[in-house]
Amino acid sequence: MSDLNALIEEARLAFEQATDPAAVENAKARFMGKTGVITALMKEMSSLSPEQKRSRGAEINVVKQAIEALLNERRQALADAALNAQLAAESIDITLAGRRRGSGGVHPAMKTLERIEQIFSTIGFDVADGPEIETDFHNFTALNTPDNHPARSMHDTFYVEGGHLLRTHTSPMQVRYMQTHQPPIKVIAPGRVYRVDSDATHSPMFHQVEGLWVAQDVSFADLKAVFMDFLQKFFETTELTIRFRPSFFPFTEPSAEIDMAFTSGPNKGKWLEIAGSGQVHPNVLRSVGIDPEQYTGFAFGVGPDRLTMLRYGINDLRLFYENDLRFLKQFA
Ligand code: DAH
Repeated sequence: MSDLNALIEEARLAFEQATDPAAVENAKARFMGKTGVITALMKEMSSLSPEQKRSRGAEINVVKQAIEALLNERRQALADAALNAQLAAESIDITLAGRRRGSGGVHPAMKTLERIEQIFSTIGFDVADGPEIETDFHNFTALNTPDNHPARSMHDTFYVEGGHLLRTHTSPMQVRYMQTHQPPIKVIAPGRVYRVDSDATHSPMFHQVEGLWVAQDVSFADLKAVFMDFLQKFFETTELTIRFRPSFFPFTEPSAEIDMAFTSGPNKGKWLEIAGSGQVHPNVLRSVGIDPEQYTGFAFGVGPDRLTMLRYGINDLRLFYENDLRFLKQFA
């Protein structure tokens, strides 16, 4: 039996020295394989008596089981070590910051519209909304711009099927509002307008806010006072560089364009046209059945996108519509 015990020790040593699974399997072959030590011991038993075979066989079996146990222990130990090494190598860094879902924000163009509505509401203006697909009558004819009027060609109109068009300005809202309301009228109409036009200060779709005040004795001086008051509130400063420049619009007489200078950013010192304006032309009042002898008024159409450019010193209008989050996030 002592030779057998020595065998167990020999196997323990052999397995311990095997440091990878392949070496363990080689060591196993040395003891349990076809030409292994145990097999040889079994073969040696052929010369023994049946009595001796039984007891020797039992002894060898004990040894065989002991070696098998050692083998499995070693296999398991190596497998555990390999798993631990893999876990350590693939460990997850739980200190890494998580990905957060953005909360979204209001587009700068919409923010400006909300701001304008809020300012005009405080001085008693109604806010009206109207269709973007317009009739030729509302967009042009009723605004003293009959067929073949040269001013029509300035608008680069998108025409749609059925004789309609995409409104080129919010001025048709003057007509729609006066058709449904009686003076005194005090309203603004913000919304989208469309023109075949695209460069740093023009986009095929852009926003306008129409303003209209029609009552008794409303003059050009009122226009200037209301508009300056609005701009000062919008820009939160009285230090504005504004000019009213004589101009022509068929639906106003006299007419003026309102320009404002950039006071910061790459365009500092340059003028940007921000609105068209004027005294409402008597023909416009007549087209909606209002007596121009009794009522007068002013109107303006302001470009809120341009006000946003001036407010934030942005030099290209198209940035508003490219929807690059790096740009838009600055206003959230
Ligand atoms: N509708 C004009 C445009 O888009 C702007 C404008 C000029 C509007 C004079 C007005 C106005 O209300 O009185 O170019």
